[in-house]
Amino acid sequence: MNFKIAVLPGDGIGPEISAQGVDVMSAVCERFGHDVEYSYALCGADAIDRTGDPFPEETFRTCLWADAVLFSAVGDPRFDNDPTAKVRPEQGLLAMRKKLGLFANIRPVETFDCLIHMSPLRKEIIEGADFVCIRELTGGMYFGEKFERDDRAYDTNAYTRNEIERILRVAYAYAGRRRKHLTVVDKANVLASSRLWRKVAQEMAPQYPDITTDYMYVDNAAMRMIQDPRFFDVIVTENTFGDILTDEGSVISGSMGLLPSASTGEKTPVFEPIHGSWPQAKGKNIANPIAQILSVAMLFEHFCLTEEGAAIRQAVNAALDANVRTPEIQIPDGPFYGTREVGAWIVDYIRNH
Ligand code: IPM
Ligand code: MN
Repeated sequence: MNFKIAVLPGDGIGPEISAQGVDVMSAVCERFGHDVEYSYALCGADAIDRTGDPFPEETFRTCLWADAVLFSAVGDPRFDNDPTAKVRPEQGLLAMRKKLGLFANIRPVETFDCLIHMSPLRKEIIEGADFVCIRELTGGMYFGEKFERDDRAYDTNAYTRNEIERILRVAYAYAGRRRKHLTVVDKANVLASSRLWRKVAQEMAPQYPDITTDYMYVDNAAMRMIQDPRFFDVIVTENTFGDILTDEGSVISGSMGLLPSASTGEKTPVFEPIHGSWPQAKGKNIANPIAQILSVAMLFEHFCLTEEGAAIRQAVNAALDANVRTPEIQIPDGPFYGTREVGAWIVDYIRNH
């Protein structure tokens, strides 16, 4: 294949992990005989500083040109505690999702055998946990009508039947390829939008007789996820609940720095880690590049290049097994491997296997 990749490194640790993702992408392309061409574009705080816009038109055009976007992270503390800021880095990410029509965010939560003891949860609870959270990404409170004044503010959690149906179809497709168990997460005891989610799901469920569909309130799901994560196979939920539940889910594996995601929908798909820009670690060469590297695996798998994806996963597992790990998951007094060293080790492994 001849890949055209838009690379959006963004802010904080973004550029450091992005570089490792790109190197891995190149190594895999070389090994499997694909051509790859990169085009870099601005997003987030970096884009605001240079253009005033967190998702400039030129970046949008680069994304449309590409077969896939390799995105890293956006966010900058300069904006976080300034409620008067008119424009924020995160708006760049949201604009990208909206303009590319990326309504389905796929966030797999897996455990790595050699890291099981790193999890804050007990081994017996998490061993074998393996689920996918399908987060609706272009609707709900993130994009609903907003009102903001000093004495009153609101966000609107709006969903249409059509938006719910299309994300449920994605979720059913995943469940069909996996353990055939779909959990629809909502707050239908309180929210009108959730009642529509549940109604639409109940209407659709009979079309998928081989899949068990169950319904769970989000508060209960949050509890179940740490009490019994193996219960879940595929979770589907709205934008806000999915954001919160996937941060919770990421802890199960032992580090947020391990989990990738794919956002797909109408236009160019985006592959990105689920973690943020970790500004405190910027430039320190300590951020884990694995979430970014595994998002490259998801990129290949999206194009049905499963061997390419498997080569990356194998290299990542080998690195973790060999203790080639960034500090947050390193064994006590273990050797130091930074972002670059972990990335380079994985690239070497891919070249030599
Ligand atoms: C994520 C992030 C974003 C979100 C932020 C940075 C806007 O937390 O991708 O989960 O809330 O969607
Ligand atoms: Mn989030």
